[in-house]
Amino acid sequence: MSEFYIGLMSGTSIDGIDAGLVDFHDNKPRLIGFDYLPFPNEIKSVIQQLSEPDSKVSLKDYGAMDNQLGHLFAETVNTLLTKFSIPASSIKAIGSHGQTIYHAPDIEFPFSLQIGDPNIIAEKTGITTIADFRRRDIAAYGQGAPLVPGFHEAIFRDPHEHRCIVNIGGIANITVLPATQSAKVIGFDTGPGNTLMDQWIQKHQRVGYDKDGAWSRTGKINHDLVALLKQDAYFQAAPPKSTGKEYFSLPWVYHKIATDDYPAEDIQASLCFLTAITICDAIRNYAPATERILICGGGIHNSYLLQLIEQNTASPVTSTEQYGIHPDHVEAAAFAWLARQTLNNLPGNIKEVTGAVRPVVLGGIYQGNTKKGE
Ligand SMILES: Nc1ncnc2c1ncn2[C@@H]1O[C@H](COP(=O)(O)OP(=O)(O)O)[C@@H](O)[C@H]1O
Ligand SMILES: [Mg+2]
Repeated sequence: MSEFYIGLMSGTSIDGIDAGLVDFHDNKPRLIGFDYLPFPNEIKSVIQQLSEPDSKVSLKDYGAMDNQLGHLFAETVNTLLTKFSIPASSIKAIGSHGQTIYHAPDIEFPFSLQIGDPNIIAEKTGITTIADFRRRDIAAYGQGAPLVPGFHEAIFRDPHEHRCIVNIGGIANITVLPATQSAKVIGFDTGPGNTLMDQWIQKHQRVGYDKDGAWSRTGKINHDLVALLKQDAYFQAAPPKSTGKEYFSLPWVYHKIATDDYPAEDIQASLCFLTAITICDAIRNYAPATERILICGGGIHNSYLLQLIEQNTASPVTSTEQYGIHPDHVEAAAFAWLARQTLNNLPGNIKEVTGAVRPVVLGGIYQGNTKKGE
């Protein structure tokens, strides 16, 4: 029998909301519907301001954005249901990641804050909604991130091939899936994915991202600059580790290199190389047995980035699409999976990944009000 869940994801790139409809029939997740709602520019800009480490946005504006995003998430779900002619009552639950405003897993009193009020999602869709996934892992002394490896394991682990999944969103993360069943799954944030490239091109060309890496290709990679950036303690630190845009931002770049001394396109090419090389280094250091790299996340559309990754690793690089799920849909599907774990009272974290002291059932449950099976 069909068993439907919806996953909602809006990542650090602040590009928009991904909604995935997943059927867990026979315990095998299959994505059967997807919708995407790009953020209007005004919303994007408030979220960007809210996420700045020294944000001056008032608590009132913060609360209002939490509400507004709750409505937008709910609308995205309702549009998805209409598009695929599925009644709300047939959905078991929604897993909503929320919009990250701040991720600070390593301070004295660590926290990770996602907004987009789940009360509103549950109320407006009628569907039980699970949200606030990260804080229970942090309560168990974990990083609260990454949380997608459990889903990667469920869908991509193969007993005959050592695989490494690379998700290139604003931040990039890897999941190491050994073929040997007794070997532990590990995973961590490798550092910047698209975020530094996005921020740099936004500043210099007033566009949101470097389409197909076209601007990067016009520049020259400056290996001395990359070496300076790579000296950062984050890249040297052993996992478990996770990071966010509040760390990998343009001020981080300015602090390390005199950007004014170089052509802007050379900096863009170098930032692209930094993303590629830190992913490849992470695989070399923590997953040397890898036989296949599967890529997902928006970074896969940057063909220059992909080329640099391919040039710096010995393993074949493939899109997750060849393994059953479109690279733009993986994270949303992961949050559908996480919602199902929670509803079934099962852990969503992998303690070797987040560093938590134990596997924990993640998130808060906000009851819906549809009568199931109606
Ligand atoms: N055609 C493209 N060319 C280059 N980069 C792209 C393209 N399409 C998407 N991207 C990159 O992917 C990012 C969005 O990826 P996504 O996986 O949604 O990240 P997040 O999870 O952080 O929201 C964009 O900000 C952009 O940097
Ligand atoms: Mg996104």
